[in-house]
Parts: sequence; C-alpha cells; structure tokens
Amino acid sequence: MICPILPDKYPCINSFKSGFMALLPILRYPDPRLHTKASVIANVDDDVRRLAADMAETMYAAPGIGLAATQVDRHLRLIVIDISEDKSRLLTLINPELLEKSGECEGEEGCLSVPGIYETVTRASHVRVRALGLDGKPFEMRADDLLAVCIQHEMDHLEGKVFVEYLSRLKRERIKSKLQKRARETL
Ligand code: NI
Repeated sequence: MICPILPDKYPCINSFKSGFMALLPILRYPDPRLHTKASVIANVDDDVRRLAADMAETMYAAPGIGLAATQVDRHLRLIVIDISEDKSRLLTLINPELLEKSGECEGEEGCLSVPGIYETVTRASHVRVRALGLDGKPFEMRADDLLAVCIQHEMDHLEGKVFVEYLSRLKRERIKSKLQKRARETL
C-alpha cells in the first residue's frame, strides 16, 4: 500500500540498511497473477525470512507502507508493513488471520501495484489479527486506523484482491486502460 496522506514522508531509503537484500519486481495491475490466492506457509524457515527481508527492502525503496508476497509474484501468505515515518516499525505477518473487525473508516488508498492511482475505500477501523512472526511463533495484535486499513489492504492481496475491485466497474475499467496505456508507452 502507498500512504496517500504522507507521500513526502517516505522520500528515500537512506536510513534503511540494505545489507545483502534484493529489490524484487512488483507486479502491476491488471497483471492476472495479482488475482492468485496465496498458500499457507507451512514452515517459517530461512527462505521465508529471506523473502520477508527482500520484500521489506522493496517496500521501503518503492516507497510504500505495505507489500504482500502476491505483489512480487510469490504466492505465499506473507505481508510486510511499516507505517512509521522513520521506517522503524517493520511488521511482518505470516499466515495472517482476521479475528475481529469493527468500526468504519473511509480513506484514500494507493497500491504499489496500481501506481499513481488513489481512490477512496471504506474499511473497518479496528482489527484484531493473529499471525506468525519471523520466529515462527504465533502472536495476536490489535490495530486501528491507518495500520488497520493497511493490514486489510495487504490481506486482500493474499486473496487475489486488488483495492480497485472495491470501485465501480466503470472506474476500474478506466484505471485498467490508463495503466495498460502507460505500460505500452514505457516499453
Ligand atoms: Ni496494494
């Protein structure tokens, strides 16, 4: 997800130590692979931790505040999120499950797979989630507002759902042709 409210707060990756991680190519809507349902991760091993680290690097570099494995064409239930201003609160959720949701908030959303498009989506304002951490241990957390929205947005990706699917058919078709035209122009 891209945060439309604070786009200038994520201008560089200078503060992020990249080590030996790699930037991964991000699938662009309407790539059909974005509609793949992700599989449960059976073992949180070094390959999964490596993928999570590469995804975090890719998210920070984009820059974005959330990225799902689906978006880098790895169809596993893994998301990374950091809504902090100084990239200090990296949250990795493996096999996330929504336990509760409540409230409602309406906000502009953007997505690294739908560049340049920001649209209003209504979501729950509070969520409770269970997931595995990078150590393979389960944990539960509550999230509100932007973090709750971001978790829901990224969890949608794992179901093969892109945020533009909440919009009207007409709006979605417009976005699709705009992005297809842009893709042709950059070839
Ligand atoms: Ni997204």
